Amino acid sequence: MGSSTREQLIGLLSGSEEFVSGQRLSDELGCSRTAIWKHIEELRKGGYVVEAVQKKGYRIQQRPNNLHPGEIKSNLKTEKLGQNVHYEEQVTSTQEIAHRLAMEGAPEGTIAIAEQQTTGRGRLGRPWHSPKGSGIWMSIILKPNIPPQQAPQLTLLAAVSVVQGIQKSTGLKPQIKWPNDILIDGKKIVGILTELQAEADRVNSVIMGIGINVNTPEDSFPEELASIATSLKVENGGSDIDRSELVRSILEEMEKLYTLYLEHGFAPIKLLWEGSAASLGKHVRVKTLSGELTGKAQGITDEGVLLIEDQAGEVHQVYSADIELSQNK
Ligand code: BTN
Repeated sequence: MGSSTREQLIGLLSGSEEFVSGQRLSDELGCSRTAIWKHIEELRKGGYVVEAVQKKGYRIQQRPNNLHPGEIKSNLKTEKLGQNVHYEEQVTSTQEIAHRLAMEGAPEGTIAIAEQQTTGRGRLGRPWHSPKGSGIWMSIILKPNIPPQQAPQLTLLAAVSVVQGIQKSTGLKPQIKWPNDILIDGKKIVGILTELQAEADRVNSVIMGIGINVNTPEDSFPEELASIATSLKVENGGSDIDRSELVRSILEEMEKLYTLYLEHGFAPIKLLWEGSAASLGKHVRVKTLSGELTGKAQGITDEGVLLIEDQAGEVHQVYSADIELSQNK
């Protein structure tokens, strides 16, 4: 069945807790009752438990735990973000898919999302651990009319959106470590990777990659990550989190902030970012390509640049680096 029919069917069945009659489904989807029955069978094969009662119709009893477009788009309250979903079970990297879609002219707000990435990409050329079915690995295409120098502001905007989406969906309160790590209790839960398709003075597309450890069990992180990474499930006392609901929360928060950003610039986003920043006012160790620096994180500039005051009182601007929060100061 065409994916849009399936998405519409899931949307109609998700709209109410009551049964939806076969006649109504066939009217709304413009196909026969027999075709509806076949579509329902397809949904069942895809992991839905669908109750069918004569004279009443159909009702979803249980949904599959996947990130299928129908799951993400049902009840999604956005105008652009996530309205066009490219979903695959396994990809190399959703960044690659989104870059290709953007080149092919995909509309703003299109997302590429997958259950598993075989070569997930992190910042600074690092790999990103993206096991099957337990995380959110997605890339969002944005097309803001801004010069390339302002693109780091969107990374900070994405970080605030993810923090707010996680809070809304789970009640957990993560913190942001500049520029774009999201932590709970000092351990990493989310990574954000912003890539551009740009000319010298103009951004064509921003590919905003977001990786979230959602239902990763505590003992399944590889050794090198075990002490520095955690998942929402672990931090939530071991209960599973609905990934598609979390994707929706993040897309909804991001659309609100992105609209605010396009209308009013970075100032309101900066305030929100500062409200969730773990590093501000703290002593930090900064590792850049050109060396190391320790000092107090004073804040960020309107360009999203981190300001560090060293022991001698000199303020340094940090554009790209890894920072460590100092435990004892
Ligand atoms: C980081 O190093 O902290 C950034 C990690 C970004 C990972 C996400 S997962 C979805 C998207 N696809 C990728 O290959 N990377 C980003």
